[in-house]
Amino acid sequence: MCGINGAVGLKNISELLFEGIRNLEYRGYDSCGVALMNKTRLILKKDVGGVEDVYRKHNVLQLQSNIGIAHTRWATHGKVTQNNTHPFASNDGNFAVVHNGIISNFRPLRDQLQKEGFKFSSETDTEVLAHLLEKFYKSSRDIEKAFVKVLNLIEGTYAIAFISSHLPGQIFCARRESPLMLGIGDEIKFVGSDFSAFIDHTKNAVILDDGEYAILSRDTYVVKNLLSREEITKPITKIEWDSETSRKGGYPHYMLKEIYEQPQTISNALDLEASGLDEIVELFAKSKNSYLLGVGTTFYVAKYAKYVFSQIAQEFYPSISSDEFRVLTNLNKQSLVFSASQSGETFDTLSALKYAKSKGARTAAVVNVMGSSIARLVDKVVLQGSGPEICVISTKAAVSQMVILTVLAMKLALKKKAITRKTYNQHMRALQELPEIIQGILNERSGFIHRLAHKYSGTRNWLYLGRGVYYPIALEAALKMKEVAYVHAEGMPGGFLKHGTLAMIDDDVSSIVFVPPPEDKSLYEATLHSIEEIRARSGFVLGIHFTEQGKNGALYSEELILPKVPPLTAPLIQLVIGQLFAYFTATSLKRNIDKPRSLAKSVTVA
Ligand code: G6P
Repeated sequence: MCGINGAVGLKNISELLFEGIRNLEYRGYDSCGVALMNKTRLILKKDVGGVEDVYRKHNVLQLQSNIGIAHTRWATHGKVTQNNTHPFASNDGNFAVVHNGIISNFRPLRDQLQKEGFKFSSETDTEVLAHLLEKFYKSSRDIEKAFVKVLNLIEGTYAIAFISSHLPGQIFCARRESPLMLGIGDEIKFVGSDFSAFIDHTKNAVILDDGEYAILSRDTYVVKNLLSREEITKPITKIEWDSETSRKGGYPHYMLKEIYEQPQTISNALDLEASGLDEIVELFAKSKNSYLLGVGTTFYVAKYAKYVFSQIAQEFYPSISSDEFRVLTNLNKQSLVFSASQSGETFDTLSALKYAKSKGARTAAVVNVMGSSIARLVDKVVLQGSGPEICVISTKAAVSQMVILTVLAMKLALKKKAITRKTYNQHMRALQELPEIIQGILNERSGFIHRLAHKYSGTRNWLYLGRGVYYPIALEAALKMKEVAYVHAEGMPGGFLKHGTLAMIDDDVSSIVFVPPPEDKSLYEATLHSIEEIRARSGFVLGIHFTEQGKNGALYSEELILPKVPPLTAPLIQLVIGQLFAYFTATSLKRNIDKPRSLAKSVTVA
């Protein structure tokens, strides 16, 4: 999973390429490289490390070129080494290639090329592309023909871009199951893994589809069908995000900025057009068996939705991690598969949806990135309008998705008369109050959460406990802690404690408990019961609760008391606390907040 950027223009593009590839670093950041053209000769600079470091080390900005391609890598095939970094050059030095995805048949291709005398410098699947281009060009003397031949030979997934000294003013690119789009400017054209590669320079994009390739030059571009080689007229997509929205806006990290944007993104979610949501409700109402999917954070969004649909609409829809979907489900034309995905590109979710389609099931999704693969694949999509989420760890996108799924459950409940209009309106009011409540908590409680997180940042093991709908909240809050602070945190339903986990309670294991408001009587009491079980073993408990009576030292070792809120929105408020607690723990531990280790923003590989 990597980021690709390319530009061909009138003037020197090395700085544009630098900015573009830096914007794509959230896709991968273990190594990066660039290929530029010095008159008619290709120059490659690449190394291990982040974009800024590599550019500085190799003085890339000193190089002059009006065409180039760049790449930022997250290793899948081959270790993180300079040799394995993209771009890759052909043996004769006339082609430079960058690639995202996996060429699944690269081994036999590599063996064959080696037999023919081609020398390989890396362990990657990508390098075969450069040598194949050289080989096929030598026999046809036609770059486009050679490219088509390569594309027809390779199996697997790809977004590819390359330049060649044989045609020093053109960029060639193609995609299959990995995102790639073109940026159409005046006297400049771009290719990128997503809009942020070129958003500062043009808002006009052309989104490539599978089975298409494109050729870009300074003044023109052409998109062709891989099978027929005929030209295709593609619509221009106007990018609605502005470049400022993509920047940090004064916050020390994107993660904090995005946590603070939640009042706005929830309002955006509540302002979504009703007709789009009604169409999806219609799909749920008609389907005989519906499934809720996602992976990582979005799996917990799906789990949250499972509780909400069950409680509000009295419908039980299983939530399944997308990667387990195939082995578990039994689909037919009457099934509905609904997925949540921030990026809209996640391989496991995309594959599950494709599988669902192949079985004739209906598909729908809530997605944050317009024009993304999932947004375009499904029968019906809700674009959640949360704006770019740059931090690798998902916060605002997930909470907005939870709000949208709650609205869908309410609409479905109203439609099937599981709730009255009065209850629907009450729920809607509760949701509408949510942005202001979260704003208040962010303003007034961040300092306290910061101190708490700092005080306990040495904790090695956390148990995150919740019951009912607070269980997916506990899971998601624990995931935040693992992702950003690298601290062991395990989410668990409160009821699980007595089935083994209590034996673990000692000085090395602390608990965070998400306590529902007392109005949610049975859940509240059951949760207190879990806390007592831990306290009876002298375990540490941080209680996040809504009971205004003030300090309850007997029950909690530490407590964070929240204002009284309706039970419908209480779990979402607690999740925001969980996000902040993870963030401040990570800053205390001096973690790499926006690009934590071993995590990438959009996982486009299996
Ligand atoms: C990766 C990201 C997570 C994200 C998950 C699902 O693990 O690091 O932040 O929640 O993928 O991604 P999606 O874009 O489909 O929501």
